[in-house]
Amino acid sequence: MFGCVGADPRDTLQLGKMIESTGVSAVAVHARHVEDRPRHCASSDGVRILSEALSIPVIYNGDVFSHSDIARLRGVSGAASVMIARGAMWNPSIFRSAAQGGFAPLYEVAQRFVTLAEQYRLHWSDVKYTLQQLFKEQPVSSSDSYTSLLHSDSWTDREPVLQALQRDPRTRLAYHPPIIERFDCATWHSLLLQHGYSSSVPSTVRDNPIDSVANASTAHLAHTMAGQTELA
Ligand SMILES: Cc1cc2nc3c(=O)[nH]c(=O)nc-3n(C[C@H](O)[C@H](O)[C@H](O)COP(=O)(O)O)c2cc1C
Repeated sequence: MFGCVGADPRDTLQLGKMIESTGVSAVAVHARHVEDRPRHCASSDGVRILSEALSIPVIYNGDVFSHSDIARLRGVSGAASVMIARGAMWNPSIFRSAAQGGFAPLYEVAQRFVTLAEQYRLHWSDVKYTLQQLFKEQPVSSSDSYTSLLHSDSWTDREPVLQALQRDPRTRLAYHPPIIERFDCATWHSLLLQHGYSSSVPSTVRDNPIDSVANASTAHLAHTMAGQTELA
């Protein structure tokens, strides 16, 4: 609704006030233009403008991928709270603080999810999709146990799939949210500058920025992203 690149703060404010005047109790804001998706980060500035101006609670949404992001993005946006979509879909244990153990091991999350999914009578195809999201870009996704998940097609495959995952030590490795979607704006802009792009991003890069920059220097990009992972 509110864009980060080139957005006029007055438009953001006007729309926010209009929404508030309808009598809603709170507003959740994802500050990103359609054309910014999926690889430009959401803006905390657009949310801050509203947090400071509205009297109803403003909820920040966008790119919350770890428990520590919750306090950080809530702080910089001045929001009353945060809403999490992909981060919670990839690994619902994002809500556990470091003191509570942080991200839970993947197998533990998978097993709990499958138990609840069965209780709530989800279709296996939805269970399979969600497990694939959980294992996205994790070492286990290149293993035979993951292949058994991919080949499963009904609840009758549940036990062999869970057993294969349980036996696989890769499901006990520390969890890192998928890298490609965790790219933050600061890193993105500094990479563009390093690779000779000005701050006005060429349309070919805007269409598919990571791929374009990766073509310029895959090794450098991988190195930078690996560094980010270590910091997580
Ligand atoms: C599986 C999924 C379903 C979504 N469905 C909707 C939807 O129905 N309506 C909507 O406005 N946004 C929808 N979204 C967008 C999210 O509400 C959210 O704004 C967006 O994913 C950015 O937040 P995130 O960075 O925490 O993922 C969906 C996102 C995901 C991942």
